[in-house]
Amino acid sequence: MVALADIGMEEGIVLGRLEGGDGELLRRFFGRLSPQSIYRRFFSPLARPEQAHPELLLDLDGCNRVALVGLHRGEIVGVARYHREPGAGSAEVAVVIADEYQGRGLGSRLLRALGEKAREAGVDHFTVTTQWDNRAAKGLIKAFDPDVRFRFDDGVVKADVAIPAAWPALNAREKFRLLRSVGDLAALGDDDLRRLLPSFDETEVEPGTVVEAAGRPVRQYLVVASGNLSELRPDGPGCLGPGAARGFAAMASRGVSPTTLVVERPARLLVMGRSQFRALRSLAG
Ligand SMILES: CC(C)(COP(=O)(O)OP(=O)(O)OC[C@H]1O[C@@H](n2cnc3c(N)ncnc32)[C@H](O)[C@@H]1OP(=O)(O)O)[C@@H](O)C(=O)NCCC(=O)NCCS
Repeated sequence: MVALADIGMEEGIVLGRLEGGDGELLRRFFGRLSPQSIYRRFFSPLARPEQAHPELLLDLDGCNRVALVGLHRGEIVGVARYHREPGAGSAEVAVVIADEYQGRGLGSRLLRALGEKAREAGVDHFTVTTQWDNRAAKGLIKAFDPDVRFRFDDGVVKADVAIPAAWPALNAREKFRLLRSVGDLAALGDDDLRRLLPSFDETEVEPGTVVEAAGRPVRQYLVVASGNLSELRPDGPGCLGPGAARGFAAMASRGVSPTTLVVERPARLLVMGRSQFRALRSLAG
């Protein structure tokens, strides 16, 4: 397992890339899924986790077959995987989230991160197959590609899902969902958080940009909306992905940045300067 990014969800879920040696973790994940989720993902009931053929799902090459996972306390809580014929512009995608983590935005995070990886590999759309009554899967796909059209095909529903070349600015609902998952803001009620949305400026940042330098005063509170930042920490580098936030404590104490943050892949950040941050602090108590 390669841990890719802290995605900043309040539960401490991180994003990782599945690798060949992760069979036992994957088997445990399948073993915990409800029969309903198993059926939704594999189109048939499974009596034992082995029937999901973890060994096939672990046949990954980082380009034509890629799987990302959400990890919580060392256990897999969600998997998004694509595979394609070598070099093809489209790839078949499937996502499954642990039952108790469904409906909290993790499927969207994983699909978006997988979309970014697929784009890098030259894939411009996903194909997806689901059941007609799978409202959660259709909601997930619709949120990813609002123009998607579902079609009946042999008793199931299929769709071609466009992968954006660049991720568009977040709409108010996406902004709210992103900020709702940030631990620093957990004390704010939904109404207060909605009131604060306009105080976050959305900005695009190029790879190589140093967003914070260790030991320098922090002048902004930032939340990663898309892309990746690397964080140079004394104990080694880390990677921040969508939902990760930095600067809250330093802004509150007018302190300095404990680490250096450098943009790794084109990133979109939600940023709050000092005066807006004061408003946030007064609402957060
Ligand atoms: C389908 C699945 C992967 C979605 O992941 P998730 O983490 O629960 O979804 P999210 O919380 O990220 O929600 C994504 C979107 O779908 C919508 N959605 C989620 N559950 C929904 C439901 N039960 N009914 C309607 N819409 C729903 C959300 O509102 C959200 O849309 P929004 O951003 O416009 O608000 C997950 O429910 C799952 O694992 N289901 C079982 C396996 C499965 O069906 N896999 C699909 C095979 S492709």
